[in-house]
Amino acid sequence: MVTAVAAAMAVVESETIAMQTKIAVGILGATGIVGQRFVQMLEHHPWFEVAWLAASDRSEGKKYSEAARWRMKTDMPARVADMIMSPAKPKGAPKVIFAALDSSIAAELEPQFAEAGCAVVTNSSALRMQADVPLVIPEVNPDHIKLIESQPWRRKTGGFVVTNPNCSAIGLVMALAPLQQRFGIETVIAVTMQAVSGAGYPGVASLDILGNVIPYISKEEEKMEEETLKLLGRLDGPSIKSAGFGMSAHCNRVAVEDGHTESVSVKLKTKAKSEEVIAAWNDFRSEPQQLRLPNAPEHPVRYTTAMDRPQPRFDVDSGAGMTATVGRLRPCSVLDWKFTVLSHNTIRGAAGAALLNAELLKVKGYIE
Ligand SMILES: NC(=O)c1ccc[n+]([C@@H]2O[C@H](COP(=O)([O-])OP(=O)(O)OC[C@H]3O[C@@H](n4cnc5c(N)ncnc54)[C@H](OP(=O)(O)O)[C@@H]3O)[C@@H](O)[C@H]2O)c1
Repeated sequence: MVTAVAAAMAVVESETIAMQTKIAVGILGATGIVGQRFVQMLEHHPWFEVAWLAASDRSEGKKYSEAARWRMKTDMPARVADMIMSPAKPKGAPKVIFAALDSSIAAELEPQFAEAGCAVVTNSSALRMQADVPLVIPEVNPDHIKLIESQPWRRKTGGFVVTNPNCSAIGLVMALAPLQQRFGIETVIAVTMQAVSGAGYPGVASLDILGNVIPYISKEEEKMEEETLKLLGRLDGPSIKSAGFGMSAHCNRVAVEDGHTESVSVKLKTKAKSEEVIAAWNDFRSEPQQLRLPNAPEHPVRYTTAMDRPQPRFDVDSGAGMTATVGRLRPCSVLDWKFTVLSHNTIRGAAGAALLNAELLKVKGYIE
């Protein structure tokens, strides 16, 4: 393991030096909230460069600056602003595609790009639970990437699809993974307070959300439950064996701009003291940190001892939006422990998650 990581690190270092020509990438759904986050995060990426943009036919043929209603807090990159939006078709697209499409259209388009030989690294839920499609958080289940080899596109044209999880599942799983590794998990109950940016743009109507809490997000609870069990499951030949613990999610939309906060109760297989649970979070490191991938945070999970944190206002940008912040660990009188976790939904929960997946794929030789 150490030797493999050392060898891969050497690859990362030599490639960082040698890579004068960056890999051309495309963004499908480039005008949406997640698409814009891709544009922002790719601006200074050391390995990848935006070469192609597409969205719906409403945007096709326009300059990106005309097609996208820019909602990021940094300026739109000047080079991208002048790019012309392409049709959302594989012809003429680069071989690496970051996808941020509505899931109904993703179900139709993503397989077309994979069939045409593209590496499709996607945020959409369309193919996440398909048996031969890896659902990956690089710190949690990097080995699941091997499922790519079972995909018919891979055998035919070299193309494939890799997915990242739903924006609320990812924060939960980052907090659970260190506990599962050290103590095992028996039962989880999670209640979310999800930001409005999670609904895309324009998303939830202001009259519906201002001064309000909406206790319903379509299909979100189902996604959180099934994706958590797949992510924490074990690679077993050409499929994933579910983690198989009891899991219940309640999902709510709240009037927060960015950052999904979750109240979690967990029952562990092996009893653990509070300091052991906190150490599991703070010690948690994995392949992206060992490989020093460009978007890997130093601390994937950070425990805050402040009584009233994490809060989206103060903690959402931790680790450039790639760190999940955990706090308020205390005994649970029904299960064993309860705590709060916060993660950035459009960075760690979307574009940053896909970028980290692509960086891992690059180092493992799936993207060239
Ligand atoms: N927001 C989050 O926090 C988050 C987190 C994780 C995952 N996701 C997932 O990421 C995906 C994108 O989410 P978002 O929040 O960015 O949504 P969004 O702001 O509504 O953007 C949707 C994008 O899809 C494009 N599109 C719509 N219909 C299309 C069509 N028929 N053909 C091609 N492109 C089409 C839109 O292009 P036009 O501008 O041309 O209409 C736009 O670029 C969704 O599947 C979502 O579930 C979102």
